[in-house]
Amino acid sequence: MTTVGIDAVEIWTGNLKLDLPGTFAPEKGEAPEKYTKGLGLNASSFPDSYEDIVTMGANAAYRLMDRKGLEPEDIGRIDVATESAFDNSKPVSTYIAGCLEQVYENDFHHANKGERKFACIAGTQSLDDAYNWIRAGRNRGRGALVIATDTALYARGDAGEATQGAGAVAMYIAEDPDLVELSADQGYGSADETDFLKPNQQFPSVDGKRSVQVYLARMREALEDYESVAGDVHPDDLAFIPFHTPFPGMVRKAGLLGYRHITRDTAIEDELAEEIGRQPRKEAFDDEEAFRDAVREYMDALKETDRYQEWYAETIDPTLTLSREVGNWYTGSVHIARVSAMKHALENGRDLTGETLLVGSYGSGAQAEIHAETVQENWAEEIEALNIDGQLEARYDLSWEDYEEVHDAHNHDMDVDVEELTTPHEEFVFDGWGRMGERK
Ligand code: HMG
Repeated sequence: MTTVGIDAVEIWTGNLKLDLPGTFAPEKGEAPEKYTKGLGLNASSFPDSYEDIVTMGANAAYRLMDRKGLEPEDIGRIDVATESAFDNSKPVSTYIAGCLEQVYENDFHHANKGERKFACIAGTQSLDDAYNWIRAGRNRGRGALVIATDTALYARGDAGEATQGAGAVAMYIAEDPDLVELSADQGYGSADETDFLKPNQQFPSVDGKRSVQVYLARMREALEDYESVAGDVHPDDLAFIPFHTPFPGMVRKAGLLGYRHITRDTAIEDELAEEIGRQPRKEAFDDEEAFRDAVREYMDALKETDRYQEWYAETIDPTLTLSREVGNWYTGSVHIARVSAMKHALENGRDLTGETLLVGSYGSGAQAEIHAETVQENWAEEIEALNIDGQLEARYDLSWEDYEEVHDAHNHDMDVDVEELTTPHEEFVFDGWGRMGERK
């Protein structure tokens, strides 16, 4: 059976940068360490007033098609994952195809287009759809373009404001992929939750503290479900675990939860038992609260062990490097974590070919998915071709006044004079309704 997976990836960041310790913290009267150490963020990528989900998605997709030499005929399906959509009828993929058709001689009339919505997990669900479409043999030799694009903005003063971000990740899903093969096994954890909502509103209504608990509960369920189909996971068999990363501090918690879960009933637990005791078993407690306290105590001790810290530094921390500089990209976030880890391996001369990534995706509302991926032999060329460092460097550093102005612009109708516009690179720009997506 041929392999199916991600053949290529491209990232497009919003062109502005908000410095959290330097610009945001003093305005909020908070210690810079709350952001750098607590949340784990140095900066947010922010969209300029001429950027939106269409332009960022089209820019990422164009870079990918251009680099891989893909033509519209090679693409049989375009799916956009977003939770920042502005049209309840026409999918964002049609707007993005319209942009790309300005550049290519041929059109995408043959391509099936859609839009996927389930908060941040929609990017991974679009990958799953593309995988299923190819595996079902409906692709007629073509691949699928999956674009995860979001402007993850919060109301000013909301606790989530520090975690904002904006950018797009474009991926080409095909047979015999160059980057990673997707496995057929998946695990889910899903429940009706109301901690993060955007019912026809620009900025989300969020119960931030509860959202953290919901993320962890669904992720634990997804891990259990995954192990029920794929068998027990051993922590030392995984090269990296890219998790959905709303902010790196969240992944610190998810990493610890994951480690506790996958070391249960293994030789690792036996070895740790001498140092910190055995993991508490629910059946040993009559009282739910006493059980929860015992688990918390175990986790606090586990976090301090050398064994866990070394595993975290190798398997999880490298997934967070890009996120620290860009904030939450919602649907693109877990796909940035994958790239971040592979980029780390490349920069450290490590060959990942044949190694396993365990990918933990999550979307509020709420659903988590765990699946495995196998790194393919051409992975290093794919990651080397990315220009993400240059893009991050080129971002314009916002003053607080600039930030307020551009945040307001995204909350109201944007009004951009394209004639006057100068952009850091050649790119699609938002040019007002009916004329959107001009390449400038
Ligand atoms: P907050 O309440 O302002 O922050 O916002 P805090 O007081 O909880 O502090 C954050 C961390 O910084 C804490 O660490 C503090 O101890 C630490 P923790 O205890 O959690 O490990 N801290 C410091 N550390 C060092 N030096 C200091 C210092 N001060 C504090 N001086 C909150 C946190 C998560 C509530 C907020 O950012 C928020 O509402 N975010 C938006 C919601 C969110 O991101 N939730 C994450 C899970 S849900 C999810 O991932 C889905 C999502 O992506 C959307 C989707 O799926 O569509 C959001």
